[in-house]
Amino acid sequence: MSNTIVIFGASGDLTSRKLIPALYQLHAKGRLPKQTRIVGVSRSEFEHDEWRKSLRETTAKFAGKVFDSKKWDSFAPNIYYQPGDIKDAASFQSLASFLSEIEEGQSTGRVYYLSTMPQLYQTAIEQLGAAGLACEDNGTRRVIIEKPFGTDLKTAKELNRSIHHVFDEDQIYRIDHYLGKETVQNIFALRFANSIFEPLWNRNFVDHIQITVAEEVVIGRRAGYYDTSGILRDMFQNHLLQLMMITAMEPPARFDANMVRGEKVKVLHAVRKMSGGDFATQTVRGQYAGYLQEEGVPPGSQTATFAALKLYCDNWRWQGVPFYLRSGKGMSCRTTQIVIQFKDVPHMLFGDKNHTSIGNRLVIQVQPAEGIQMHFETKVPDAGMKTRTSHLDFNFQDTVGGGAMPDAYQRLLLDAVQGDASLFSRGDEVELAWGIIDPILEAWRSPAAPPLLQYQTGLWGPPEANEWMLNQKREWFDVCP
Ligand code: BG6
Repeated sequence: MSNTIVIFGASGDLTSRKLIPALYQLHAKGRLPKQTRIVGVSRSEFEHDEWRKSLRETTAKFAGKVFDSKKWDSFAPNIYYQPGDIKDAASFQSLASFLSEIEEGQSTGRVYYLSTMPQLYQTAIEQLGAAGLACEDNGTRRVIIEKPFGTDLKTAKELNRSIHHVFDEDQIYRIDHYLGKETVQNIFALRFANSIFEPLWNRNFVDHIQITVAEEVVIGRRAGYYDTSGILRDMFQNHLLQLMMITAMEPPARFDANMVRGEKVKVLHAVRKMSGGDFATQTVRGQYAGYLQEEGVPPGSQTATFAALKLYCDNWRWQGVPFYLRSGKGMSCRTTQIVIQFKDVPHMLFGDKNHTSIGNRLVIQVQPAEGIQMHFETKVPDAGMKTRTSHLDFNFQDTVGGGAMPDAYQRLLLDAVQGDASLFSRGDEVELAWGIIDPILEAWRSPAAPPLLQYQTGLWGPPEANEWMLNQKREWFDVCP
């Protein structure tokens, strides 16, 4: 079947930086179904050729060394541009006619990609419905929705409700680009294609789990968005909770969208609700020094750019095992890693009596040093029975033959075209995630909020976040790749 991908918000950054380069690379690898057309929609006026020309430049820049002029020339004729305003019903009528024209009445699957400002998602969906563009009488109709999906539980519910008036749940693809990352999908392989980890993957052997998404960058020119969002909405409600779900979930019976998401959602159901004093003892919040001086940040802003949370999963596998989730801007380096910290040996025979098997950990490096390391104790040669921590290293890069790891959007766009929603969030999943984040946001606005700690950029967040861990007799795994 032929396919059309319609991108709303075509003149935006995401389209030129991520979406078109990903589609181009899928085309270059021969992965896109034959007869796939791409139609960009936004308010600017462009001729088809003008848009193609500007995309050629940006794709050459963002696709880097894999860009090949000949392949681009075979890809470009499938790209079209249709000016249109999301708020204008007539634009959708014109779009409908334009699509029928280029599809020549053939049965064609369509994917509508909403890469617009989030405030326009609801209107765009209503307009698609009103113009008959969601109707599946001549091919499948799917919609991809970028994050943020709502700004709290209430708005996420409203958005779900209004989308469901137009599209069924199995037509809706809520994107979280972390799920498109190869190393995140490799967690499924690590856990469910091996038998050696599963017996250890539970409360009997695991002391705690750390999930860190550290970014060296600060907010730059994004104050308008970031100051109303903050770290919890921007990173925790989506990316960190996704990583937690995949780390904690039970094996699904089959690797299909509903089974996978069904298991992930059970993790969110099991996350223990915080109440009363928990917000002060189980959450840490910080703001990097200099945030208030960033262009566009209102004076005295209390927006957190760093957070650490201690969450528990009340189920048989994880009872009593803390999940420490941490993320921040302006940190030491860019690194996303999951650390499975195993328990100490029950009785240490060697060397210093106080030395424990703290080195028993599995480190899943999501980015940028994609790989997995197993840390364990070994004997120091020629030093009696002194031990030290050694590690076995698996480097994902070595397995792609020197080529670059595919960008997350390649996998996600292809899955949406092919109708596989396993790596997209389901409606109940986003709502449950907001249900975890909302009470923390509310507590942080109340007098019982933990202090907003200042931290210098280039460190691992506020020093108090380290003390917080040390007080629990644990330590962050602060290693830059
Ligand atoms: C986005 C956030 O969702 O993820 C950004 O809005 C953040 O603030 C980005 O920088 C991080 O993505 P990645 O893929 O670079 O880790």
